[in-house]
Amino acid sequence: MNPPSIDSVIGHFDAALRTLAGITRTDRPNPAESIEPCDLTDSEKKQAGRLMRVNHCGEVCAQALYIGQGLASDNEAVKEAMKQAAQEESDHLAWCEDRLEELDTHTSYLNPLFFALSFAGGAVTGLISDRVNLGLVAATEEQVIKHLDSHIDRLPESDDQSRAILEQMRVDEVKHRTTALDEGGVEFPEPVKKMMTLVSKTMTRSTYWV
Ligand SMILES: [Fe+2]
Ligand SMILES: [Fe+2]
Repeated sequence: MNPPSIDSVIGHFDAALRTLAGITRTDRPNPAESIEPCDLTDSEKKQAGRLMRVNHCGEVCAQALYIGQGLASDNEAVKEAMKQAAQEESDHLAWCEDRLEELDTHTSYLNPLFFALSFAGGAVTGLISDRVNLGLVAATEEQVIKHLDSHIDRLPESDDQSRAILEQMRVDEVKHRTTALDEGGVEFPEPVKKMMTLVSKTMTRSTYWV
């Protein structure tokens, strides 16, 4: 592969710093904006905040995955196809950040660790081949869709704002998975998917609390 250009390295480094510093820009309206704010009890607020912190960390990981992929892959067609997905991941990150603020809670202290792991996953698979890298995106999205489904169920019943965000994210993640497979991503074998489920559980269980 050709080494990435200096411009590309600086651009990706800038995106990494913005992700970890919580400075995310998005033009797409937050789906929660059109929802009447709801009154949550203290414990409901806490529960919603914990779930949204997990989802926020998932979006930090998505940024890292795409940054790693962008640096490692030199296939312009694949990069272009994934650009739209990467933009939508930035929307998700910004929406989750907004909601965490409204719920008076913090982002996960473990974000830098999971960012580093996902970046390595994106970069290593990108160096192997685009098909493996896209396979990782597809398999990751599959995990994300599963945990979004469970979170939509576990949110306090009256928290329609968080639910609106997660439902729009789910629509987008399904699309990202399909795009990655359509672009030639390989379906990972079941044992690999099982290992990914274990890693994903470690992430969701730890960031729920810290
Ligand atoms: Fe996302
Ligand atoms: Fe996604």
